[in-house]
Amino acid sequence: MSSVETKAATDSQWWKEAVVYQIYPKSFNDADGDGVGDLRGIERRVDYLDELGVDAVWLCPVYESPQADNGYDISDYRSIHPAYGDMDDWRRLLGALHERDIRLVMDLVVNHTSKEHEWFQRSRRRDGEYEDYYIWRDGSPDEPPNNWESCFGGPAWTYDDEREQWYLHLFDENQPDLNWRNPAVRDSVYEMMEWWLSQGIDGFRMDVINLISKAEDLPDGEPGAGQTGTEHFFNGPNIHEYLREMRDRVLSDDSLLTIGETPGVGVDDAKEYVGSDGDGLSMVFQFEHVTFDHDEHKWDAGDWSLVEFKEILSKWQTGLEADGWNSVYLNNHDQPRMVSRFGDDGDYRRESAKLLGTLTHTLQGTPFIYQGEEIGMTNASFASPDDLRDVESLNFIEESLERSDVQSYEDVRDAIEYVGRDNARTPMQWSDDPNAGFTEGEPWIQCNSNYETVNVERARADEDSVLHYYRDLIELRDERDVLVYGEFELLLPDHPAVFAYTRTLGDERGLVVLNFESEPVEFVAAGVALDGLELAIANADAPTVPSDTFELGPYEARVYLTPTQHTQTR
Ligand code: GLC
Repeated sequence: MSSVETKAATDSQWWKEAVVYQIYPKSFNDADGDGVGDLRGIERRVDYLDELGVDAVWLCPVYESPQADNGYDISDYRSIHPAYGDMDDWRRLLGALHERDIRLVMDLVVNHTSKEHEWFQRSRRRDGEYEDYYIWRDGSPDEPPNNWESCFGGPAWTYDDEREQWYLHLFDENQPDLNWRNPAVRDSVYEMMEWWLSQGIDGFRMDVINLISKAEDLPDGEPGAGQTGTEHFFNGPNIHEYLREMRDRVLSDDSLLTIGETPGVGVDDAKEYVGSDGDGLSMVFQFEHVTFDHDEHKWDAGDWSLVEFKEILSKWQTGLEADGWNSVYLNNHDQPRMVSRFGDDGDYRRESAKLLGTLTHTLQGTPFIYQGEEIGMTNASFASPDDLRDVESLNFIEESLERSDVQSYEDVRDAIEYVGRDNARTPMQWSDDPNAGFTEGEPWIQCNSNYETVNVERARADEDSVLHYYRDLIELRDERDVLVYGEFELLLPDHPAVFAYTRTLGDERGLVVLNFESEPVEFVAAGVALDGLELAIANADAPTVPSDTFELGPYEARVYLTPTQHTQTR
């Protein structure tokens, strides 16, 4: 790609050069002391986001909701959940972000609603036009219409005594799936999207968007590993028709950022969503690199190898290089903390958090930072099921206890602490004040016990902190097109400890070398042009120019670039 093309891309495709920060409102900052984060709490921290240097915020759902799945069960799309505030608070937040040139992307959850949504309430009463808003099927109350499973365990069907029919829910029973085959449903969704766009937002993150189209006749799924039925609703038959209709009807402004959350997509599927002949999404969240450490099932979390991790990420890098665009993320509100998973949350917490941040900010694609990642937050400890809040984990424990090999919580605790979603949802650690400075009340979920040492206040004061390093990374990516647009080439694919690659954009070159082990390792730069390269950022003291062979310390990360306008070491 020439630099002329790259610059031309910046107006409507500003998001290619952007860094996005994800906020999980329930756990970010509580202004009113009820133990639950809120919009005013976020507003108080916009200067923090500005100092960090991010360009956009993705706000997880803040809509009216009974909170069966922390807001991914929406009962009214056009109002704010009272614990979070109201529309005036939301407008103030939008204003505060826009004043600082930070864009706002809202979560769009339209595969399902809450059971409490008026549409569902009317549908279960067969009330006029709402009768077919959801996926209802006849059947005797003891036999679900097919064998599909819910993503949160158990059957994907619940019998409704009022309507005397089954309804489909690919997630919790409180999250009935909308019937996208019904044009009136699609019209209602598009109207709601228009309404949010008219409030001045900058895009949508689209929750499980590739699940909205289900196979006609809802055939049984092939039982096997994982959730049964996915072949009939992942990238379903009408998915592209619906997304194109959505684009034509509501997303024609191509400066909007649209990110589809798309479990189960491969590179070729992704092109249909984000490629030049695709549905017009800016990017997707693919899952391959955050599921490869699962065995048959998410909870059989196994070992992982760096070689496979590199293979997956490289495949996405090169696969979307010519056509499409990547999102780059290692954690979010559904994933464990990346430092605990891919780094070392003990002795090398700081180094490995910086190393992983170096990776996400130097791959081709838009980096997503999940709240707390920038201070190196880690997985938490959950001594008892009473400490857990996530419906997925609680269902898993309940189902496991019915199995003969599981006697007590202790038998599944390791799995919960490795992969459970509550790891990501403990309160943001602002300071060493009680409850990490998150709330003056009783937090809805316990804080991670390491908040006295891992917190924003401390990180701000420490020049060598993960936070300072993240600021530098963001600034560096902002200044250097080669990191945004440069062609990616993986080096040493079979090396078990080193993740190394080059980035090339015309005359500009970059070399990134990362040691994923707690032991020193030797890197041999065979075949890489080292002339003119200078150190741009590193998480340890490192020579300013690379030699053919060099040793990297535990979790050491180095980025060499040419030509250099910017050199720093932390
Ligand atoms: C997405 C969300 C997750 C939610 C699910 C159902 O995967 O990220 O948090 O539970 O969809 O809405």
